[in-house]
Amino acid sequence: MTVGRLGVVGAGTMGAGIAQLGCAAGIATVLHDPLPEALERGAANVRRELERWVEKGRVGEDALGLLDTAASLDGLAGCDLVIEAAPELPDLKRDLFRDLSRVCGSETILATNTSSIPVTSLASAAESPENVVGMHFFNPPPLMRLLEVIRAYQTGERALDVALEVGAAMGKETIVASDGPGFLVNRCGRPFYTEALRSLQERLATHEQIDRICRLGGGFRMGPFELMDLVGIDVGLAVAQSFTELSFGEPRWRPNPIQARMVAAGRLGRKSGRGYYDYDGPDEQPYRAEDPEPPAVGGGEGMAVAIVGDGVLADALRERARTAGYDLKAGAPAELVVDAGLTPAERPPAGAPLLALCADRALAARGEPGAVGFHLLPPLADCRLVELTRLPTTQTFAAEAAERFFGTLGFVCEWVGDAPGMVLGRSVCQLVNEAAFAIGEGVGSPDDVDTGLTLGLNHPRGAVAWSREIGLDHVVAVLDGLWETYREERYRVAPLLRRAALLDADLGAAL
Ligand SMILES: NC(=O)c1ccc[n+]([C@@H]2O[C@H](COP(=O)([O-])OP(=O)(O)OC[C@H]3O[C@@H](n4cnc5c(N)ncnc54)[C@H](O)[C@@H]3O)[C@@H](O)[C@H]2O)c1
Repeated sequence: MTVGRLGVVGAGTMGAGIAQLGCAAGIATVLHDPLPEALERGAANVRRELERWVEKGRVGEDALGLLDTAASLDGLAGCDLVIEAAPELPDLKRDLFRDLSRVCGSETILATNTSSIPVTSLASAAESPENVVGMHFFNPPPLMRLLEVIRAYQTGERALDVALEVGAAMGKETIVASDGPGFLVNRCGRPFYTEALRSLQERLATHEQIDRICRLGGGFRMGPFELMDLVGIDVGLAVAQSFTELSFGEPRWRPNPIQARMVAAGRLGRKSGRGYYDYDGPDEQPYRAEDPEPPAVGGGEGMAVAIVGDGVLADALRERARTAGYDLKAGAPAELVVDAGLTPAERPPAGAPLLALCADRALAARGEPGAVGFHLLPPLADCRLVELTRLPTTQTFAAEAAERFFGTLGFVCEWVGDAPGMVLGRSVCQLVNEAAFAIGEGVGSPDDVDTGLTLGLNHPRGAVAWSREIGLDHVVAVLDGLWETYREERYRVAPLLRRAALLDADLGAAL
């Protein structure tokens, strides 16, 4: 191990957690905070948590003896690595990097745990910028398995190696990202929030519906609005503003006026008792309703159904319908027609209620006034909800047929507004798109994108894995449909994604 002595600056939530990891990794660790009471509290937290780990047999008792505290920055002299976890203020951090350079000398690697300040700008404040690297831990550091190591413009190989080595010694999965807005993980996770806010803004669905759709349809543990409430809506707005500033106005990352309105109204989320949800109701009342249990698969009773179209989704729906007891027809005559991916040039068979997949177009753009639109994402084994949409002209019996059909296939039905990809498709396809932009721009590798999203943000699968499940053609169809509908730059397809779809290649293989 290259690092015999680790310094941690800032004894708050993150600093204390990082110091705990240092001691647990067997490294002599010095914790510093300029506020004596913060230092005392932080060190007490580290000792208490280490004692717990000793009791559980996760670390030996000697880990407790590895912690030292320093009331002044000078106490960090002689450290091989210093990780800074001070407040997220650019000037304060720049001053720290200047002072740490003076105290520690030219051999010490200086790392920052910043989540939004360009590491490049902090490296510039240090005397040896090549020794500066980002070590982005996730909250709470002792529990979250991911460490995102950030290579600033100036970061040298030695600094990168030390950060990766220490991360591994702390038991973390490490990924490497280049410097830029949100680095790799928070950047690739942005669309989960931005597109949910767009769906809400357009009144495609309510925030409760969007959260339910993401949980039941996408397998996300929490919906975007629950998460925004947890993180703080003011924090989310500040992050969006910082992305916009750092990217000189990238349209995908712009804040949404809904965020500004919530902040103006003082509805900041859990911490203020109210956000998108209400948290100060009677204790026995949960802030959101329980999710419905999907119906059992079955009840097709030999009804003749034609599921037409090519692609992963059409195949998966045919298989599910067969399991549910339907008599599958190749075309007319049928009692129900499901267009699950015909090209715009192909027409579904007439003479029966039509359920039409809304991927490349909204239902209104299909020229089928009586039809019902639907959207859902493979793999169907993990999908428990289908989104449905109707036009003012949709026949009631078609709407009833849609609910009955998808119910027998084991899906909860959620009625939403009309748009390509509807709610979940828009969010997930933009997650894939953002990942493709990031990979194409060299911010990180496809594997690191997926490791970051699953371990850092608890997504059910990474964006690259989603793209394999859904098929790049479907992703591109939804994004092009959104672009066609809104004519907004935010829905432009990433060059790498377009190329991979044209080559019928994996995102990583099209580089
Ligand atoms: N909390 C998170 O979820 C999270 C996740 C990833 C990264 N981060 C980043 O980690 C850093 C710390 O965040 P936190 O949540 O632990 O904050 P915190 O407020 O809990 O702790 C910050 C600590 O820094 C101390 N401090 C104040 N001025 C200082 C100075 N000049 N020098 C050294 N220490 C000083 C404070 O006394 C406090 O104890 C920030 O850069 C933040 O963006 C936070």
